[in-house]
Amino acid sequence: MTTDTAKWVEKDFKQLHPTYHPKSHANPLVVERGEGVWLYTTDGQKILDGMAGLWNVNVGYGREEIAKAAYDQMKNLAFTSGFSGMTNLPSIELADKLAGFAYEGLNTTMFTSGGSESNDSAFKTARYYWKRKGKPGKYKVIARRGAYHGVTLAGTFATGLEKYHTMFGPPVEGFVHIPAPNPYRYEGEQKEGETVGQAAARALEEAIVREGADTVAAFIAEPVMGVGGVIVPPDDYFPLVRAICDKHEVLFIADEVITGFGRTGEWFGLKHWNVKPDILSFAKAITSGYAPLGGIQLSDEIRATMESAADTEAYMHGYTYAGHAMACAVGLKNLEIMEREDYPGRAREMGERLQAGLNSLREFPFVGDVRGLGLIWGVEIVSNKEEKTADPATTTRIFKAAQERGLRTRPLGNTLAFSPPICINEEEVDEIVNRLGAAMDAVA
Ligand SMILES: Cc1ncc(COP(=O)(O)O)c(C=O)c1O
Repeated sequence: MTTDTAKWVEKDFKQLHPTYHPKSHANPLVVERGEGVWLYTTDGQKILDGMAGLWNVNVGYGREEIAKAAYDQMKNLAFTSGFSGMTNLPSIELADKLAGFAYEGLNTTMFTSGGSESNDSAFKTARYYWKRKGKPGKYKVIARRGAYHGVTLAGTFATGLEKYHTMFGPPVEGFVHIPAPNPYRYEGEQKEGETVGQAAARALEEAIVREGADTVAAFIAEPVMGVGGVIVPPDDYFPLVRAICDKHEVLFIADEVITGFGRTGEWFGLKHWNVKPDILSFAKAITSGYAPLGGIQLSDEIRATMESAADTEAYMHGYTYAGHAMACAVGLKNLEIMEREDYPGRAREMGERLQAGLNSLREFPFVGDVRGLGLIWGVEIVSNKEEKTADPATTTRIFKAAQERGLRTRPLGNTLAFSPPICINEEEVDEIVNRLGAAMDAVA
């Protein structure tokens, strides 16, 4: 570490970082600059960002035209309140652009500042909807084990990863968890002749019946689970889920905070299975990380219930930064780039190359599974391939060895995640595979 970097790290101690533990942030990379898929640190390292920041920097770093859009908008009007009868032009334009963009019939957008706020808004909107429909008893949310839905108090307990709960209990009431449709290791009960998709969908129906459909407001799911280890569901799962939600009058919330905006090879993840949610949560790649922005989209049916509300039934929800003018201007420019450069197509093309490369690493004794969709991939590390014994210690060692070789990935339990900027080119995809291979060689 250079002296300069040591000074930055010392000063950085005054900042409390996400998911803080003294050990996990003792020696951070101090990133000074980015260009395309590359990050440059104060101590002279050049690192290939195999995670696109935190699954979000789709267009890569250093895009002049986005910087200019932000500058122009800030100079003109950075912010105005969206409360009490006021609005601004970029938020109008972005909401208009997004109407029906993800899914037909989702034409209303409420903006937030990020994914956690989006999911909290989705839960509150589901409750609001059922109250307006005269069914105030419907308030529970069913989520999956392994899910990540953010860190507001509700998001924390919608999340199905225990380590996020441990220090923040008691749990918020009304969140129920069921097994996720993990084809590599399904942890639920699977009946003879049943597919994993059918078994996991049955778990949803059983949970609704057990809790009482008249108490369940919504089911929430990530189309491809991210933080839970990059889990791609079997093809039969989401169509079954949609039918079960309809049958029991349960709203389906799609948490597309990671899978939105081209990441999976479609503009939005559920498109792969021709399924539509009632509420969509988005964030991250709407701006490719150039400004904090997220939102929810509502079905026309949910929106309609708001239009006929009595005076005492206003939707008393919304954030200071909802529809932030500069963030929305950035979102518009970022979307223009992603459309111009055909990001779903690019994610599919580069994803196929990454898939082939990662599959070539299956010869290592600890590579248990390689899975993904579009340009989001996971490599699961095990100590015994037959028994599929999870090996988080080796996963961490490979993560560190990769970082020493200038590749940024992310260890999620015993899975290494890859979600590079979608602007990545062929040589850079090959660099991911080569550097990961070298890291695995060093650990093996
Ligand atoms: C699926 C999903 N939902 C919600 C969130 C929370 O988003 P944020 O960190 O912007 O609050 C994340 C963050 O990674 C996520 O992956």
